[in-house]
Amino acid sequence: MAKKLYLIGNLKMNMTRQEIEPYLDSVAEVANNANNVVGVCVPFVYLCMANKKLSNSKALYGVQNMNSKESGAYTGEISPKMLQDFGTKLVIIGHSERRQMYNETDASVNEKNKVALSYGYTPIMCFGETIDEREQGREFDRVRSQIELGIDGLTAEDVKRMIFAYEPIWAIGTGKTATSDQAQEIISFAKGIIAEKYGIKNEDIVMLYGGSLKPSNATDILSKKDIDGGLIGGACLKMEDFKSIIYTNVE
Ligand code: 13P
Repeated sequence: MAKKLYLIGNLKMNMTRQEIEPYLDSVAEVANNANNVVGVCVPFVYLCMANKKLSNSKALYGVQNMNSKESGAYTGEISPKMLQDFGTKLVIIGHSERRQMYNETDASVNEKNKVALSYGYTPIMCFGETIDEREQGREFDRVRSQIELGIDGLTAEDVKRMIFAYEPIWAIGTGKTATSDQAQEIISFAKGIIAEKYGIKNEDIVMLYGGSLKPSNATDILSKKDIDGGLIGGACLKMEDFKSIIYTNVE
């Protein structure tokens, strides 16, 4: 039986209004025809448009970050409450670009996961090691601490509602992809940590791979046992490439 994959585009800080209008129309069309689950996380300013164009389609949509506070004097921030009015489903939390450039910590990731879940959103919690950590053989320790701290205080039901994304930092936007075996090894390890903590099964957990995923490597990576889909940066910007990944069919 074909595995149902989650293929979620992270637009990051890309696209003008003129570009994203037809793009979202295509996402709706492709999502309605695909056997896999399709999602897209847009810049905040396009959330209203995503709501109009995708809410009657099978595509899931959402954003790439949020503040954990409900309202107040936080200039330039977007609250979880504001996202409610736009049919938001997905919220990327703790992307490595936010951890590295905007001081997100495991503690803030944990807090945002809790808040996102309380609003009924699906957090897409990102984790992954740096190249230095991998070269020093510390990738498993790093992943373990990110996972343990990120899900601290959550229940089994909470983690079953989440999506996790293993994104090795050295593979993001670099063209260097983790081999399918490297991705499977870490994802199975990370699922094992969560499964053991809650007494649940690996199959109860949804975990994606992200990092230079593209049409030429999608089948190899996505066919691995514990990998449930992909979080796609660069390749989701070109509809033809995104579409080709979305139509991946693996057992
Ligand atoms: P790339 O696919 O561009 O490497 O980005 C991956 C990513 O960061 C998705 O969140």
